[in-house]
Amino acid sequence: MPAPRRRTPANPAPRRRAAAPAPVVGEIPIAGSKRPHPELGLGLWGQGRWKPEEEARTKAAIGRAYELGIRWFDTAEVYGSGRSERILGEVLHRAAGGPDAAFVVTKVSWEHLRPTQIRASLVNSLERLARRSVDLYLVHAPDPRVPLAETMPALEALWKEGRVGAIGVSNFSAEDLETAERHLGEAKIAVNQVRYNLLDRDEADPVRDACARRGILLEAYTPLARGLLNGRYLDGRAAPASVRRLADRVLEPDRWKEVVARARAIRDLAQEAGVPVPSLALHWLRHQGAAPVFGASRPDQVEQNLAAWAVRPPDDLLARADAAGRGDRA
Ligand SMILES: NC(=O)c1ccc[n+]([C@@H]2O[C@H](COP(=O)([O-])OP(=O)(O)OC[C@H]3O[C@@H](n4cnc5c(N)ncnc54)[C@H](OP(=O)(O)O)[C@@H]3O)[C@@H](O)[C@H]2O)c1
Repeated sequence: MPAPRRRTPANPAPRRRAAAPAPVVGEIPIAGSKRPHPELGLGLWGQGRWKPEEEARTKAAIGRAYELGIRWFDTAEVYGSGRSERILGEVLHRAAGGPDAAFVVTKVSWEHLRPTQIRASLVNSLERLARRSVDLYLVHAPDPRVPLAETMPALEALWKEGRVGAIGVSNFSAEDLETAERHLGEAKIAVNQVRYNLLDRDEADPVRDACARRGILLEAYTPLARGLLNGRYLDGRAAPASVRRLADRVLEPDRWKEVVARARAIRDLAQEAGVPVPSLALHWLRHQGAAPVFGASRPDQVEQNLAAWAVRPPDDLLARADAAGRGDRA
């Protein structure tokens, strides 16, 4: 006997709504902070660098990032002499979730590392950002003329007063981290922000290991190698001097061709696997335990980078990208 056909009820129960998609950007707990740290962020160095007539476009890039789920925004008092902080403050005050939904990171300049200067710098940054506090306050870079014995307790005091949610550093070596930690009491260094990407990592690798041992999150700046890891400048088109300088850092001077060859190898791997090139760049960093903070001068760059983030390449592909970034042609 044939099995009875299933009858469709005349009034089928309404389909259950699909569960909301998981947030595109996850979070990482960090030392000393009540708020977890987003895994991916937008850096606003360029917002200070770009010309005032480009302001509408750069504001649109921040606004688009917020709409697409970016909450970590990285700025500094030196970016455009405060212009970047001011622009960020304006955009966040108009954002749907209000300014407090964002995870705002700013930095005290390496020229202001004496205790009274740090306090004054924070007051000025908060005024430009139009906030009562920031989520994370970083020392932008060490100044060999100012002992960390002066700087770190001053940062700790701001954390204890609740004017900053957590404290951290940037461009610190493994030795700098050790010295800085010796001058803290209850506070902990939550993050160290350093330059780190698939093509430029020899200096950062030991810092990554030191951060991992100490429970410090490594924030990776220049994660896209200024567009090279978006597949840009790989077809013979001239790259600006600011991008070509990467080659001088990665290898000896004038080795641009080698850097381009490595970037092409990474692009070819991505194309072969059918994933966007920046997926490899950004997820390789996550695989190293780092949180990438990328730059974008236009809303479409933000869209492309977030679309790339949404694609998580398998570990074996990340391992092949790792080898290609080191120049291994095997
Ligand atoms: N702590 C420090 O000392 C330090 C130092 C440097 C940076 N940072 C932080 O890290 C952030 C990121 O650094 P970065 O700007 O060097 O990083 P990056 O993400 O490697 O480079 C950003 C640049 O890449 C290009 N780009 C981005 N997305 C693209 C896309 N989808 N397609 C094509 N090109 C694309 C754009 O170049 P164009 O604008 O030319 O189009 C963009 O300005 C900075 O904004 C800053 O917040 C910190």
